[in-house]
Formats: sequence, structure tokens, C-alpha cells
Amino acid sequence: MAQARSVWTCTQCGAQAPRWQGRCNECNAFGTLVEEPLVSSSAKSRATSSGGPAPEVTALSAAQAHEPPRVPTRITELDRVLGGGLVAGSLVLLGGEPGVGKSTLLLQAAAQLEAQGVRVLYVCGEESPAQIGLRGARLGLDSDNILLLPQTDGELIERAIVEYKPDVLIIDSIQTMSDPLVESTPGSVSQVRASTARLQRIAKENDVTTLLVGHVTKDGSLAGPRVLEHMVDTVLYFEGDADYEFRIIRAVKNRFGASNEVGIFEMGGSGLVPVASPSQAFIEARGENVSGSALFATIEGSRPLIVEIQALVTPSYLPVPRRLATGIDTNRLLQVIAVLERRAGLSFASQDVIVSVAGGIRLTEAALDLPLALALISAQKGVPLKGKAVAFGEVALTGAIRKAPADTARIKEAGNLGITHVISAPSTSSIDECLTLFA
Ligand code: TYD
Ligand code: MG
Repeated sequence: MAQARSVWTCTQCGAQAPRWQGRCNECNAFGTLVEEPLVSSSAKSRATSSGGPAPEVTALSAAQAHEPPRVPTRITELDRVLGGGLVAGSLVLLGGEPGVGKSTLLLQAAAQLEAQGVRVLYVCGEESPAQIGLRGARLGLDSDNILLLPQTDGELIERAIVEYKPDVLIIDSIQTMSDPLVESTPGSVSQVRASTARLQRIAKENDVTTLLVGHVTKDGSLAGPRVLEHMVDTVLYFEGDADYEFRIIRAVKNRFGASNEVGIFEMGGSGLVPVASPSQAFIEARGENVSGSALFATIEGSRPLIVEIQALVTPSYLPVPRRLATGIDTNRLLQVIAVLERRAGLSFASQDVIVSVAGGIRLTEAALDLPLALALISAQKGVPLKGKAVAFGEVALTGAIRKAPADTARIKEAGNLGITHVISAPSTSSIDECLTLFA
């Protein structure tokens, strides 16, 4: 009988089955089984039983000795999220929704790298070289040393790398790549994983810095349930969709720098431009003395930012009033509304509540509670906050306001914009005190 050459593995629990099943026998998840090539057990045992030399080990102190060399991309906001530039030989994943600007940014980075004498090989699996050329013309780039390779076959890409010896390899996108050893279609979990594994090996063997473009699926994860995130050194996500003027890159993982660092760009007629003073840009369009608006002094990564929280409260025509949040977790909104109802005596019953963060940035910091509460109170009363102020602080279920970390950095950033009035703990210590802050 012919030997099975592949095995089906559950991407959730790792259980294996000899053939495809709709549901995993172990964890009962549906549609999670993916095909993987089988590694023969004789190949595995050979490695342990052969009498060759023992593998080499390195002392921790020796391994610490050298700081990895970096090449700056000379795009300030990209260098910031990378932790100072691209680390030679590292693997970077740039994820984001289609149309957000991944290809644009990487072509701009390629041009900057090339200007420093770095050889770049751009593998375009999605677009033709002519389309990349058009984009390059639009960005005002012309370069003889960015090599374009329209190819999706992993083996041929490897041959091209050995032939042209690039310093930086760009794969646009990993979902179009296929490994000849894996039979499933491009974009499937096993293909994405096999292609990334091959690129990882090539990167280490040839000391090529590799940038992978990854499309994000609707539920926010990369196609292939997060398998890529574990394999790469750095994961950057493009936030904000094509509707917003700002494009935000967040480092969700970085082996060579701080995670959660953000880079802020604006998409213009000739590509992505780093935003020099983001706080200024975020609150630029804000009207004076409008109700339902509060400024939040937040910390994103290592950088303080001033952003505007907007709220709208309207009579609801639905039996269950709606609560809509953009850029903020809906559960956070529900919690703040509950605290306002119980601890500050406000009622949002039979009213729809809509909140959003101006500019399209996503906020997850707990200190968001207080400015969110202020925007909600202001919207509910139809009265603006007295004077120009920034706020920050987590609101406890008891209605108490907690101190937030790095308050001096936040206050300083507000000061840079000429805002000196700060609403935070301990001077404002409970949510009912906030009711007096309105004109
Ligand atoms: P693109 O970089 O192709 O996005 P992705 O690779 O993430 O799918 O394009 C992003 C969008 O930006 C596209 O709709 C066209 C637009 N764009 C500009 O507004 N200005 C420009 O200079 C360029 C090159 C693109
Ligand atoms: Mg693209």
C-alpha cells in the first residue's frame, strides 16, 4: 500500500488526523484542519542516532556581545516602529487590509534603501512589474537597482536570491506564494506556513533581510491563524482603513525593539508621508466649544499623543438602543455608560450612543475611560467642556478615577499644544466631580 505523504493538523489544538475531517476530534472546532507534509520517522531518528559531532553551544555572555547591525529605512516613522531600522537577516511581517498602503510603503522603503547602496529584490506575486513601475513613477522614484521579480514559486525565488544576492528581499504578498513541496492552493495555511519557513531559512542562510506583506482577513487575523506571527521577528500592522486620512503602523511584536510602538503616516498624492507632529494633526479639525468632544492624552508605545474622542447621544427608535464604537472596544463603552448611570446619575436609556476616535487610530489604553466619560456627559447634556483641557485616567466600577502611568509625559505633550488644563487623578478623583466641569 502506498504510504500516506501528508497528515491533517488542527490549527487550534495541534491534533492530527490521517485524512480531512470537517470537525477536529480533539477540540471539536470546525474547519480548522489543514494538510501538512509528513516527515518520515526514519528521517527523524537518523538525526539523533548518528554519531557525528555534538551541536555547538554558545555562552550567554558571548551571545550578548554584539548588537545587531541595522539599516535605517530613512522613513522616520517606519524606523521608529522597527526600533531604529531593519536588523540585518531579520524577518519582518507587514500586515494590513488590502488598499491600506503596504505595497506603497515598501516601495518607498526600497527606494530609500537602494539610495544607501542596499540591493533590493522585490518579488511581486500580486502585481505585474508594469504596475509596480507605474506606482514607482507616481511616487517619483526611478531606480536601476531595485530588482523586480514577478514570481510566486518558492523554489525559483530561492534560485533568484542565490543568483542576485540581494541584501533585502520584499515578498508582496506571502499569500500568493506557493511551495512546490506542498500541494494545497496558495493562500492556504499550509502554503503560507511552508513558504514562510522556506523564506526564513533563506534569510538566515544568505543573510537577507526579508519583508513579508500579509493580507489581513476580515476578522482581523492574518490568513493562516496567526501561524506567521510566531515565525517572524517583527510583526507590524497597518491600522485604519482606506477611509481615513491617517495610516498607523503598530509593532505588535518586535524582537529588536519596543512592541506597541506606533508610526503615523498620511497618504497623499505621492505616497505615504510621515506625520511630523501627530498630536497637532489629530486635533487639527476639532471645532471650538462643541459638545460631545474631549481630548485624551494617551501614550502609544513610548510616545505621548493627544487625540479627540467624539460622542453623540440621540433618541433611539429601537426597542434596544444602539451602542456603536469606532476605534474603541464596545465593552469599554458599555462599562463607562454603566458607571455614568450608577455613579453620576445620568441616564442613557432609550438613547443611541455613538462614539469614535478622530483620525482612525485604535485606542486600547485603560486611561481612555475618563475622556470617554467626559465626551459622553458633554453629548448627553449638549454642553461643551469648560475651556480647553486634556483628560486621562481609568474609571473604576465604583466611579473612582485612577492615576495613569507616565502622567508627566502626557501633560508635557498637552503643553506643547498650548493646553495647560489637565483633568486627571488625584485632583479629580471621582466621576461625579466631573459633572461640574461643563459650561
Ligand atoms: P497599495 O499600496 O497598493 O495598498 P496595499 O498594498 O496595502 O493593498 O495602495 C494603497 C492605496 O493608496 C491605493 O488605493 C492607492 C492609494 N495611493 C495614494 O493615494 N497615493 C499614492 O501615491 C499611491 C502610490 C497610492
Ligand atoms: Mg499591495
